[in-house]
Amino acid sequence: MRIDIITVLPELMRSPFEASIMKRAIQKGLVEVHFHNLRDYTMNKQRSVDDYQFGGGAGMVMMVQPIDDCISKLKSERNYDEIIYMTPDGETLNQKMANSISMYENIMILCGHYKGVDQRVRDMHITREISIGDYVLSGGEIGAIVFCDAIIRLIPGVLSDETSALTDSFQDNLLSPPIYTRPAEYKGLKVPEVLLSGNFGKIEKWREEMAYEHTKNRRPDLLENEE
Ligand code: ADE
Repeated sequence: MRIDIITVLPELMRSPFEASIMKRAIQKGLVEVHFHNLRDYTMNKQRSVDDYQFGGGAGMVMMVQPIDDCISKLKSERNYDEIIYMTPDGETLNQKMANSISMYENIMILCGHYKGVDQRVRDMHITREISIGDYVLSGGEIGAIVFCDAIIRLIPGVLSDETSALTDSFQDNLLSPPIYTRPAEYKGLKVPEVLLSGNFGKIEKWREEMAYEHTKNRRPDLLENEE
């Protein structure tokens, strides 16, 4: 997968891609991430990317020209499966979306700032608008990092244990069951007997029951929304 990220703050974004799972995915050649600094596409001396809002009102708006030029240039070089704008008024990111987007070849991500981008950018180029939750960040960059982490770990070969992404919380609308490692007893707290039994049928059944209980207690909405 190739990910092109358009941002005014590439320096804010680099380090998560230089550590951990995302770094490994890049090193293995499974993912390429390219940053494009929006200021490189400005035509004014100050390299400013924003301007006052027509009609008045608080907050600046990101101008159409630098974004249009940057997106148009990238589009002329390859086809994109999706051109995504990170914005609090987009569809809320969930595991199902992450699963399907992780299968794409090329995606572009536009990070907004200030009040957001001129509507004409959205009308001309954006194919999908994504929010990472019902709260407002100071820019789309951190949202884009969260989104990239969620999709990159799902690309086959990125996680060393292929099955581990499939057993994550949310993969079947259930939260994960409790997990334990050695020692079998710590400060009087014992690991549930069934996990030590070696009976895999029983263990699987226990895990399913616990996942269901856990979900019912913490996130009953997930059980209601089952598709
Ligand atoms: N930009 C500002 N807030 C955001 C959010 N919640 N999700 C994605 N991008 C954003």
